Order: sequence, then C-alpha cells, then structure tokens
Amino acid sequence: MASRAKGTKGSIVVFPGSFDPLTNGHVDVVERSLEIFDTVVIGVLDNVNKSALFSPQERVELIQRQFQRCRERVEVASFSGLLVDFVRKVKSRVVVRGLRAISDFDYEAQMALVNRRLNPGIETLFLMAREENSYISSTVVRQVALLGGDVGQMVPKVVEEALRRKFLQRSSKAS
Ligand code: PNS
Repeated sequence: MASRAKGTKGSIVVFPGSFDPLTNGHVDVVERSLEIFDTVVIGVLDNVNKSALFSPQERVELIQRQFQRCRERVEVASFSGLLVDFVRKVKSRVVVRGLRAISDFDYEAQMALVNRRLNPGIETLFLMAREENSYISSTVVRQVALLGGDVGQMVPKVVEEALRRKFLQRSSKAS
C-alpha cells in the first residue's frame, strides 16, 4: 500500500478476485480502471476453503511483479471475510469486475446485489472484456498449463513462468 501510506489522495477502486492465477483479462481490467481511477487496489481473496494452485502470498507477489512499473497506482493485498469490509478498509466505495459474456452476468449481478444490500454506499462497476480475452479464465489457464499446453496468449510472462515452475515442482514431487 505504498502510495496511500505516503498520503496520496484521489479516487480508489477495488478489483477483487481469486486471481489463481492472474490472466491477461485481469490485466486489461486493471489497465482500463487506471484510465478512470487514480488508484486500483487489487484484493486477492484468501479463501481457506478453496483448493488453489497458488497460495495467496504467491498470487499477491505475482500481481505485484506484473504491476511493478505502476506500483504507485496499483496496490495489492489479500483479504478474507466480506468484500464490502475490505472496500471500506482501503477507503474506497467502488468495486470493479470484468464481464466476459452473458454467462458471467447472473453470478456477477448476484454478488453486486448482495454487496449493495450489505453496504448501500458501495457501487459495482462492470467492464466488458476485450474480445481477445473473452475466452480466458483462470480455470482454463490452470487446466491448459497442467496438461502441458501453451498459455502464452492468456497470461502475462511472469505468470507463465510461475506456472511452468509450479508444474515442474509438482511433477518432480510425483516421480
Ligand atoms: O475471481 P472470483 O473467484 O470470481 O472472485 C470472487 C470474489 C472474491 C469477488 C467473491 O467471492 C468475494 O467477494 N468474496 C468475499 C466474500 C463476500 O464478500 N461475499 C459476499 C458477496 S457474494
């Protein structure tokens, strides 16, 4: 949280998610949010019930490395508990989420409505995914990488390398 620790003021949006791992679709949402807001706080859900490929700390570190060049405006933190509490904690009142297709809408609308019920002061904004990213999800990335496929078009370089290391580690443990 470097920039606001120094007292920077301005508009702040929270981009929450599991980010297991960060994809090109996520990167696009962050970059486009930076056109609208001064600071983007990426909130990585630290969910003990979800069997994740990367630990919350690994996910935070990968995202930090990806946005190293704009670290004054992109902050990364893990959170547990309610999203609305995290949003208040980082002094924001706006959540941004990407929408890839109509099939995302039901889930996203439900979350936005629950969050509004929990805290009517928090708004949710949706950014429509770019066409070239509309097929990408973290689940697809994990599956393709696990099966040895090329994920170079789907994730940033830092993530591609981390996936390679992760699956090498796993196959050496298994053998
Ligand atoms: O990348 P994901 O897994 O689709 O992100 C989902 C996320 C993290 C945004 C959502 O699960 C969440 O906000 N979890 C925190 C718990 C919460 O606030 N739940 C109430 C809203 S449904």
